[in-house]
Amino acid sequence: MPISYFDKQKIFKLDTPHTSYIIGLTDKPAFVGHIYYGARISDADVSYLLRTEEMPYVPSQNDRDKLLFMDTYPMELPTHGTGDFRGTALKVRTEAGHEVLELHYVSHEILEEKPKLKGLPATWGKEAQTLKILTEDKYCGVQAELSYSVFADSDAIMRSVRILNTGKAPVYLEQVYSASFDMDDTGFDLITLHGAWARERHISRNAVNYGFQGLSSCRGESSHQHHPFMAFAAKGADQTKGEVYGLHFVYSGNFCGSVYKNQFDQLRVMMGIGGENFCWKLEAGADFQAPEVVLTYTVEGLGGMSRIYHDLYRQHLIRSPYLKKKRPILINNWEATYFDFDEKKLLAIAKEASKSGIEMLVMDDGWFGERNDDTTALGDWFVNEKKIHGGLKKLVDGVNALGMKFGIWFEPEMISPDSDLYRAHPDWAIAVPGRRAVRGRDQYVLDLSRKEIRDYVFERVSAILDSANIEYVKWDMNRQLTDLGSLNLPADQQGELSHRYVLGVYELQEKLIRRYPKLLLENCSGGGARFDPGMLYYSPQIWCSDDTDAIERLMIQEGTALIYPLSTMGAHVSDCPNHAVGRVTPFETRGYVALAGTFGYELDVTRIPEADREMIPKQVAMYHKYHNLVADGDYYRIASYAENHIYDCYMTVKKDKSEALLTFIQVMAQPQVHTKKIRLQGLDPEKRYKIKRFNMETGKEEAYSLKGTYHGDTLMQAGILIDKMWGDFKGMLLHITEV
Ligand code: GLA
Repeated sequence: MPISYFDKQKIFKLDTPHTSYIIGLTDKPAFVGHIYYGARISDADVSYLLRTEEMPYVPSQNDRDKLLFMDTYPMELPTHGTGDFRGTALKVRTEAGHEVLELHYVSHEILEEKPKLKGLPATWGKEAQTLKILTEDKYCGVQAELSYSVFADSDAIMRSVRILNTGKAPVYLEQVYSASFDMDDTGFDLITLHGAWARERHISRNAVNYGFQGLSSCRGESSHQHHPFMAFAAKGADQTKGEVYGLHFVYSGNFCGSVYKNQFDQLRVMMGIGGENFCWKLEAGADFQAPEVVLTYTVEGLGGMSRIYHDLYRQHLIRSPYLKKKRPILINNWEATYFDFDEKKLLAIAKEASKSGIEMLVMDDGWFGERNDDTTALGDWFVNEKKIHGGLKKLVDGVNALGMKFGIWFEPEMISPDSDLYRAHPDWAIAVPGRRAVRGRDQYVLDLSRKEIRDYVFERVSAILDSANIEYVKWDMNRQLTDLGSLNLPADQQGELSHRYVLGVYELQEKLIRRYPKLLLENCSGGGARFDPGMLYYSPQIWCSDDTDAIERLMIQEGTALIYPLSTMGAHVSDCPNHAVGRVTPFETRGYVALAGTFGYELDVTRIPEADREMIPKQVAMYHKYHNLVADGDYYRIASYAENHIYDCYMTVKKDKSEALLTFIQVMAQPQVHTKKIRLQGLDPEKRYKIKRFNMETGKEEAYSLKGTYHGDTLMQAGILIDKMWGDFKGMLLHITEV
């Protein structure tokens, strides 16, 4: 039984294969306390860790020093206003304007399943158990149902919370964090992902210090700037060893994550919805379901954490049938043509691409309304026959006749002020009535909290999809939310808009994948501003970044792969000088780097240098040969260019350890240095392996300088030498197979 309750000791113990999470109750009134989270242990009653004897307050016995207790007891769901100053998970304002809340245990149940979270993306799967603990503040008439789920095959613990208004008057939720736990700080570093447009998810690592540290998004999306993820790594924890805790929010909108270090060197870590732009009116009798946070713990370092998240998301989050299918190698016309295309140009690209084995043409922005640049027509989802002469079906049929699939770009959540849609419905944009809203990329955001607007969007998107054989959609979202005002909501509910907007996006995407179950959906947001587990529930892949430069991508993809399986990362080979940074890298290297994601092209194949075009079939062969290993394998990070500023190296290893693929990118050539020694990871110490090198010139494997066969332990402990390469930005692919 992964979840047990020990009635005598009033203790709940959750076990995953390698971790334990222990919760205890005080005597009456019973507070729900966090006792332990870490490596799996045998005993449940470790309540001595609560150090309650050091606190002069015992709930049933005296009242004198309750304040000290409130500020030291490790609460599972800390509330506001009764003396816990270490950070609040649940903050509720009553109609009278008070924000004081204290939750006591009421009851619990253990379910043999993981129930769905209404309207929200969440992990799913059989062989699951869920613990629900109901707590209550009788004074306010507020209940909080804490939920903890485990799967038999994962070291993750999923936490969420549902708030119920059992009183007679409405209350206002100002902060509803889904997870919070306290632990002793034995010297943890906080690891987060930060970034910008074209520079998403770079890794940052800093010591946790006294007071509050944290990160958030109030941009209406999970954002380029911060990611709804925090890890706490013991000092010295690296890729292969050391304690690491992870928190990752399955949500695509505003979030907060924080850590507080108190005077007793204890940490409180929390994550959820709250902060700016959130206030939810909960009517009497209503409930509010918060999204889930995925907690992980491992002693196998950052690599161990990555693999727990990768497996969890592949097995228990992504639903698309494409998860287990090879994605068609696509060519997207964005960097090839931008807005300057017609059906002839697209067909010319498709024709040339099909000769090289590329399998799908994706028509990006600019095919609809009067959209000839980024100032117009979002919302006018009608094919522009001045560009696509003869209509969409004719183009799609033409592409299909070349043996290729066809995909299309939409930005369904947006409206251009210069569009027929806006002229007809100026009130459909999110805005404060009477106030000129801020434009971003010359566009406004549609108020997707309104059903009639969602219905319009769905009707238009599906009309296009029904009009031709369209097998892929790139769903883009290119600006952040401002001017938060909805005509749909009364004054005291305007604070709900950001969350209602995200729920609207989820509802639309759910409808889309249900109506088109075979569709390959790729989410996107100005590159990777909405690359989060919430969106993965709907699409098996997300465009990682508008920066397709192979070197910048090393850092973006390293940060992304810290949590996400490689199969989810949209990655394309593009033309050089690169459109984001102007760098020139070898076509070969661009192929190696894109192989670590979904793999595709984003260039005008009719105009690139002949030598590059000739290499495409070899890269296509590379993709077909290794993609499954990349998509389904275990990921091991060997070296990080972001850290060493010289080279990057990572591996994927087949689950049965019979095969592995190593990618090495020499970013900077160095004079007068030894060849690099690389210690492989993830192999079976007892198996014997041989090494071959993929030759991009021939598209075939050839002998590597290290001939012979070696045991996995030799390759992992003694390591191998990487053959010298001449020049910057050079890449190498080694295929390691069991003999
Ligand atoms: C965003 C996307 C790009 C492209 C453009 C089109 O920036 O990230 O890939 O689709 O929009 O406008």
